[in-house]
Order: sequence, then C-alpha cells, then structure tokens
Amino acid sequence: RDIAAIYRKEKCDSIIAVGGGSAIDTGKAVNILVSEGGDDIAKYTGAGVLKRPLKPFFVVPTTAGTGSEVTSVAVITDEAKGVKLPFTSSFLLPNAAIIDPRMTLTLPSHITAATAMDAMTHAIESFTCMAKNPLSDAYATAAIKKVSQSLLQVMDNPKDSTGRLELAQASTMAGIAFSNSMVGLVHSLGHATGAICHLPHGLCMSLYLPYVLEFNLETIREPLGELLLYLDGPEVYAATPASRRAEASISALRTLRDALYKRCQLPRTLKEAGKVTENQLDQIAEMALNDGSIMFNPKEVSLKDARAVLQRAWA
Ligand SMILES: [Fe+2]
Repeated sequence: RDIAAIYRKEKCDSIIAVGGGSAIDTGKAVNILVSEGGDDIAKYTGAGVLKRPLKPFFVVPTTAGTGSEVTSVAVITDEAKGVKLPFTSSFLLPNAAIIDPRMTLTLPSHITAATAMDAMTHAIESFTCMAKNPLSDAYATAAIKKVSQSLLQVMDNPKDSTGRLELAQASTMAGIAFSNSMVGLVHSLGHATGAICHLPHGLCMSLYLPYVLEFNLETIREPLGELLLYLDGPEVYAATPASRRAEASISALRTLRDALYKRCQLPRTLKEAGKVTENQLDQIAEMALNDGSIMFNPKEVSLKDARAVLQRAWA
C-alpha cells in the first residue's frame, strides 16, 4: 500500500522489482493496486480475478530460487491475520526479467542453499504432481540437473560465476515448469509454516521435500524414479534397478540436504530450524489443507496425513 501510494504520488509509469521472491511478489501486488485501483489487495486473491493487463513490470532477481520472474503467481503475507494470500493470473507475469548471476554473487550461503532448494522443489513437484505435462517436464528435469550439478560447487566457491549462472537458469526454468503445472503438498505445508512460524519459504521447502515424497511415494514411483537420472547422473541411474530408483531419488535429496547442513547449517528438521514448537503442528496441518496447491498433490491428503508428515519432519 505504501509503495502504491508513492507510485501514484510520483506519477510513475512502470515498476522494476530488484530482489528475491518477497520483493518480486511485492512488486506484483503493487502492480495490482496501481493498475486496478484501491488499497485492498485481499480483493484480488485467487485465480483468474484480474481481467486486463497491468502496468509495465520488470524484474531483476537477486536470488536463484523463487522463479517469480517467470510465474503467474504471487504470495503476499497478511501479517495481521497470519495468513498467506495467493494471487494467480497470467497478467502477473513480468514483461521482462533480467537473469544476471552477478546479482547473486554476494548472496549469503544459507540463502543460496535455501533458495536453490526452493527451485529444486518447484521442479520436483512440477514433475510429480497432477498437472505435469511434457512442456513442464522438460523444464523441470533440466532445472533439477543444473541444481544437482552446481549447488555444492557454488556453496564451496561462492564467486563461481559459471555455477551461479547455472543456478540462476535453473531457478527460472523451474519457475517456468511449475507455473505451467503447479506444485503440491511441500508448498502447502511450506506456505502454512511460513504464515504461522515465519520461517523462510526456501528453508520450508528443504525441510519438507523428502517427507512429502515419501508420503506420495506409491503414487509417484515412476516419475520420481526417472528423476534419479537428473539428481545423481547416468552412472548411478544405470546401476540402480528400476524398482529402487524412486527411493534412490529421495536418498539423493537427503544426501544433498546433509551436504548443505555441513556447509551452512541449513536445518533438516523443524526442530533444528527452531521458531516452530511441536504444539503448532496441528495448526500448520489445518492451514495446509486449505492451501490452493494441495489440490494438485498426486495423493489425497487428510488432516491426519498432513499431521503425520509434519511429525516425520519434526526431528
Ligand atoms: Fe516455492
């Protein structure tokens, strides 16, 4: 609201968002207010509410993870109500994005790790959830390969500009993937945890990813098994029997999380993350069930299921 007021006062004609997911999504929300008028952003939540193009909007990401520069989605936290408001419309897509890895060279290591795990989650959920399709699959697999090959290199050498470029491209490609196919339970739980406990989004993704994949396992055995090729390379893929590849994909993700913990103490459990108390898990589970992305999860999720996944992720 404050930024929209400045926009109007200064008679601006366009918006440039420079930053991570929160800054980009703030830009999207400001664009709704200055294009549609009014001060009540909550009026525009949901899918397909916007009916016409917004003001010119440009994005320069400074993290490699959110993919918001190529998505038709924005998420804004209503701090007063403790909820995250979702917005979905193709009119939210930026007119142009500048993907310049120099903007991420000084990103602190724990944010590099958490945001890359957000990109990884976008790609994996895109590839395993209900709205997967050949186009989103192509972007998702390419993104997973890039994160798997470059993330630890960048963690060890933060100024590795080639590796940073790979992660920046992976983030954008994973964004294209999920914007054309949606995400699932990892995001539902993550949105709820972010709203209630104020944990960063990327960290929530890293915390929940393996446990949600275990919960979904029998419904996604084939696509998840296919991802082993991109997570661990052709040698490991070829040496792993087809019937064990899905579990091996989850193991590869756990190994990556351990490696990130070693390098920057990126938490692997809710307990390690702090900020969350065990008695908040019921509330998180309830809120997650009302999250828009849960309907794209490949397996039906009950309150009991969501609570059980949270318990597994606890410690
Ligand atoms: Fe995400």
